[in-house]
Amino acid sequence: MKHSRIGAARLKWVAMESVDEQQYQAHLRSVAAQWEQALEAAGFAAAIVAAGVPQRHLFDDLEAFFRPNPHFALWFPHRGCVGAALLFAPGRRPKLYFHRPEDYWHLPPDLPDWAAAHFELAVFADSEQLEEALRRDAKRLRTAFIGARAPASLDAELNPASLVNRLHHQRAWKTDFEVACLRQAMASGVAGHLAARDAYYDGGSEFDILSAYLSASKQTEADLPYPCIVGLDEHAAVLHYQHYARSRPPGSRVLLIDAGASCRGYGCDITRTWATPEAGAFAELINALDEQQRGLIDTIEPGLHYVELHLAMHRRLCELLRRFGLVKCSAAAAFEQGVSQTFMPHGLGHLLGLQTHDVGGWQSSPQGDEAPPPKGHETLRLTRSIEAGMVFTVEPGLYFIPMLLRELRTQPGGAEVNWPLVESLTPCGGVRIEDNVLVTADGASNLTRAAFAQAQRTA
Ligand code: GLY
Ligand code: MN
Ligand code: MN
Repeated sequence: MKHSRIGAARLKWVAMESVDEQQYQAHLRSVAAQWEQALEAAGFAAAIVAAGVPQRHLFDDLEAFFRPNPHFALWFPHRGCVGAALLFAPGRRPKLYFHRPEDYWHLPPDLPDWAAAHFELAVFADSEQLEEALRRDAKRLRTAFIGARAPASLDAELNPASLVNRLHHQRAWKTDFEVACLRQAMASGVAGHLAARDAYYDGGSEFDILSAYLSASKQTEADLPYPCIVGLDEHAAVLHYQHYARSRPPGSRVLLIDAGASCRGYGCDITRTWATPEAGAFAELINALDEQQRGLIDTIEPGLHYVELHLAMHRRLCELLRRFGLVKCSAAAAFEQGVSQTFMPHGLGHLLGLQTHDVGGWQSSPQGDEAPPPKGHETLRLTRSIEAGMVFTVEPGLYFIPMLLRELRTQPGGAEVNWPLVESLTPCGGVRIEDNVLVTADGASNLTRAAFAQAQRTA
């Protein structure tokens, strides 16, 4: 009875972190099969994957938030893993070397209940002993070390490209377990977005909106997959706006919020733009972009190239520019002159998973060949052909960015622009609508809209 409060808190934590055993097992089987193939192709007998340790700030004794090596998180999706490592040698049970130091400054990590069913386990209080055990177990195996730096005592090749390229390429396809994690992250993120919208309509500042988002999505800053972007009015035109103004500008008309949430390391990446009735034509622009974004997602199917989707988005944007009278020429002429690139200077989207911008977006082969984006579209992070099982974002935007507009004025396309209208909309900043989709056998499942619909049903 003496420890009942602590016991209850611990149980709740464990329940939150519990995993669907069957799904996780199937995930591990699939990861093991991929790694076995990749090791064989790259000529290695084993891989050691290190979770890593937090990075210290310069001349400081404080550390940045810890992010585990994503290749480690793929095997062991549990945030309490500082200093841990995993040895995978085909034919042997994967072995987890868990680091649990004696510490009274911090709460040492605990192994989750589910770990024992899937790994051979060894727990070490001392990191040198952990390293020594790794050295012993990997002896005489040609070993690749996947991590920030390999300890000198280990005879292993650090991040060999022949292996890492294959591992990166493969991460684009998600297992059912990974999709379930993303769905769970999405539910938290959507709860946050709905609260953020309400905080905006209640008169909140950027800081108030951020606080509402964190509270409703039940996250601390350290839990976030990326820093929240909360921009009112002109700040919506700063693509990765990083501040949180404590006061709200008088007469605010627009909120752009790009914020995610994570579950077992998998993060969603959602953007919504909200306007007040005073926003006028800009509010219509938000609705029109939302419609175009959904239309674009409807065209997704395996075999389509993501570059084609990106270019189709630019064609749709040019139609919007024409329809709203922002350009005087035809949509086709605006596209030919690259006018939409001023209004939408980032890529349509990126792979999503353990990293917000998941690796391998330009990789055209497991061996590491790369397909860079077409000229003029260098910021596009995904150039692969779309295949079932991939998860990526679709995030068109339309912004009034003074720096880019100034450039456009000097270019031939600038003559086609309705500058007075552009100037009148510039104080509204911009709009972005970002959803996360899972490619299916014959289309795409919109994980983000499904989570919003679910939240509405249960409201
Ligand atoms: N939140 C960053 C992005 O949308 O890519
Ligand atoms: Mn994104
Ligand atoms: Mn985003």
